[in-house]
Amino acid sequence: MSETDLETIRLTQFAKRAGCAAKQPPDYLLSLLAGLPPVTDPNVIVGHATADDAAVYRISDDLALILTTDFFTPIVDRPYDFGAVAAANALSDVYAMGGTPMTALSIVGFPSATLPPEVLVEILRGAGEKAREAGIAIVGGHTIQSEEPIFGLAVVGKVHPDQVIDNAGAQPGDFLVLSKPIGLGIITTAAKRNEDTRGAIGEALSVMTTLNREASVVMTHAGAHAMTDITGFGLLGHLRNVTAASAVSATIWSDLVPILPAAIEYVQAGISPGGTHANRRFLSKWVDYDPTIPDWRQLLLCDAQTSGGLLAAIPGTHAAEVVRQLRYHGLGSAAIVGCINAGQAGKIRVTISPESDS
Ligand code: CO
Ligand code: CO
Repeated sequence: MSETDLETIRLTQFAKRAGCAAKQPPDYLLSLLAGLPPVTDPNVIVGHATADDAAVYRISDDLALILTTDFFTPIVDRPYDFGAVAAANALSDVYAMGGTPMTALSIVGFPSATLPPEVLVEILRGAGEKAREAGIAIVGGHTIQSEEPIFGLAVVGKVHPDQVIDNAGAQPGDFLVLSKPIGLGIITTAAKRNEDTRGAIGEALSVMTTLNREASVVMTHAGAHAMTDITGFGLLGHLRNVTAASAVSATIWSDLVPILPAAIEYVQAGISPGGTHANRRFLSKWVDYDPTIPDWRQLLLCDAQTSGGLLAAIPGTHAAEVVRQLRYHGLGSAAIVGCINAGQAGKIRVTISPESDS
């Protein structure tokens, strides 16, 4: 296969569902997890109970391993980009625990009857270069035949057992800081359907391939009480995991949430992934929207992201400085988007802005 052939392959056309929007809906997963026997190994610091980003396993008094895996079908067309996005997304769960990646294995499903091997080489090259940017190597993996291309990583990271930042530590008075804009699911869906009239996929790609490493360092140093990355369950879905695990409630100021501009136009035109609608349906029992917040903005707040930013509960006095530092590190959309309140565990209120809050 020649160079030009590789350039004309549109990987998203080989996938029925794309990226983290291919994730099982939250209600399906949460009820399934609730049925599993509890984890009793005392060295498991974080198991499946808090719907966290990764498991954390203590191996000594000053060292714990972070274990996580993420894989999905193509979210973007170029094989190299798909590999890079999938790698950044999988690494993100280590950063979301306040940890440092150590090494990774690749997980591959590949339809070798319909796609040439060069495509897989490019996917692996994209992932390998992103892993190298994160300071690690992909040291092995496993490949099976599949109907659709599937790619992701199983990542091992490390953290001091006393410095794990899970979903359960958010406290009333914390501000919620988000490091990247949302709307990625809507833009990638538009691109897959040839409806990306504003050519926004390039900007979405650069957001998705930005490592959450700097955000993690800044937020961790600021004493984040809880931290998660925004992926398939959307901003409100991942925040719900934090508020439920922390037994607090939260307020989101929707006008302060950074949104990729094209996503606003597309969602208003009726473009949004199925996973986004599933998220909003699941969240309806957890989220109260101010009646003035339009339907399209509710959908955006539930939009299934791939490789989105970090959302952290930061002690109130440090939040503005965290935003300043994130912006200094090139995360120009970083913003305070809400706050943590005492209140019914898990509940989220969405208002327009702090001024509109009563
Ligand atoms: Co995560
Ligand atoms: Co994940």
